[in-house]
Amino acid sequence: MKVLALNSSARPGGESKTDLMLHHLVKGMREAGAKVETVNLREKNIKNCVGCFTCMTKTPGKCVLKDDMTRDLFPKWLESDLVIYATPLFHHTVNATMKTFIERTWPICEPFLVENEGRWFHPLRSKHPGVVVLSVCGFPAMSAFAGLTHYVKFLYDAQEKGMLWAEIYRPGAEFMVYRKEKQKDILDATIHAGKELVETKRVSPETLGRIEQPLTDNVSDFAKMANCWWKTCIAEGITLKKFADEDMIPRPDSVETFLLLMTMGFDPEAAGDMKATLQFEFTGRVKGSCYFSIADGTIKATEGKSEGPDLLIKTPFEVWMDIVTGKADGAEMFLEGKYEAEGNMEFLDMRKLFGL
Ligand SMILES: Cc1cc2nc3c(=O)[nH]c(=O)nc-3n(C[C@H](O)[C@H](O)[C@H](O)COP(=O)(O)O)c2cc1C
Repeated sequence: MKVLALNSSARPGGESKTDLMLHHLVKGMREAGAKVETVNLREKNIKNCVGCFTCMTKTPGKCVLKDDMTRDLFPKWLESDLVIYATPLFHHTVNATMKTFIERTWPICEPFLVENEGRWFHPLRSKHPGVVVLSVCGFPAMSAFAGLTHYVKFLYDAQEKGMLWAEIYRPGAEFMVYRKEKQKDILDATIHAGKELVETKRVSPETLGRIEQPLTDNVSDFAKMANCWWKTCIAEGITLKKFADEDMIPRPDSVETFLLLMTMGFDPEAAGDMKATLQFEFTGRVKGSCYFSIADGTIKATEGKSEGPDLLIKTPFEVWMDIVTGKADGAEMFLEGKYEAEGNMEFLDMRKLFGL
C-alpha cells in the first residue's frame, strides 16, 4: 500500500501534537508493511488556487500554476492508495495550509454537474486516493471537531462510499503531554490504528475510543488546569514552547487547583506501599485546608481537615506554590522558617511522589 502522509502543522516536531500523532500512526502503518512518505507542507511552496478553471477546460486535469504541488505533490497524491490529511484544528476546521492543498486537488474533477441522492458533485476524472483525516485540537471535548467532521464527510464520504477510511481526532492535545500514562495509551492506540488501516482500511471503534479517551474524569477540571497553565505563561511572560522546554509546572491559584495539580501529578510507582495522610493548612492570600490520603498506590484529595495526619504543613499559600513550581527550595524554606511542618518528616520531600 502506497501512502502519502501530509502534515500541515506550522510547528516543527517536538512541539507539534499533529506531528506526534502522525508519527505514531505512520509507525503502525510501516510496521504493517505500508510504504509511507511523510511530507511537511510548511516546507513546501504551494500557491493558492487562482480559480481560473483552466484545469477543467483548456488543459483538462492540469493546473496552470508552477510550484511544488504541480511539480511533485499532485502527481504523488494521484498515485497514492491513501492520503493522510494530518492537520491542527484551526477555527473549527483544517488549517489554511491544508485547505490550500485540498483546493489544489481540484484538477481531479471534471466540470460537469451530476446529482446523487440530492447532493451535487463534479465527477472525478481519475481514481481518488482513500482519505484519512487526523486532527488535534486544544479544547478538551470531541465536540470541538463537529465542524471538521461535517466538512470531511460532506467532501469525501458523500462523493463515493468507502473513500473516507477514517477520521482520527485527539482533543485536549496540548495538555495530553502532561498526562504521561494516558498519553502512552493514546500513542500506542494510534500505532495500532495505523496497523488496522493497512490491514482493514478502517480503524475499529475500540481503537478510536482509546485515542479519544478523556484526559481527566471531569472536563471542567481539565479547563481549570489549562487556565492555570495559561495564567502561568502570561505571568512569566513566556511562550508555550519555553514552558514545555523548561519542564515548567502550572502554578495553582486556589486550594482546588492545588489539589488537581497534585492529584494529576501523583506517581503510584513512587508511592509504592506508602500509607500516609498529608495535611496542608494555608494562610496568606489563599486560605484553606486540604489533605491527601495515600494508600495502595492511590491518592484521594479532600478539602478540609483530616483526623491525625502523618504530616501537617502550615504555610503561606504562595510559599508552598513557589516550592511546587520550583521557584524555591523546600528544605531551604523550612530552615528559614518560611513554613512549619509537624509529624513524620520523611514525607516532607514530595517531589518524586507528585512528579515535581
Ligand atoms: C489560529 C489557531 C486557531 C485554533 N483554533 C482552535 C479551535 O477552533 N478549536 C480548538 O480546540 N483548538 C484550536 N486551536 C488549538 C490548536 O488546535 C492546538 O494548539 C493544536 O495542538 C495545534 O497543532 P500543532 O500542535 O500540531 O501545532 C487553535 C490554535 C490556533 C493557533
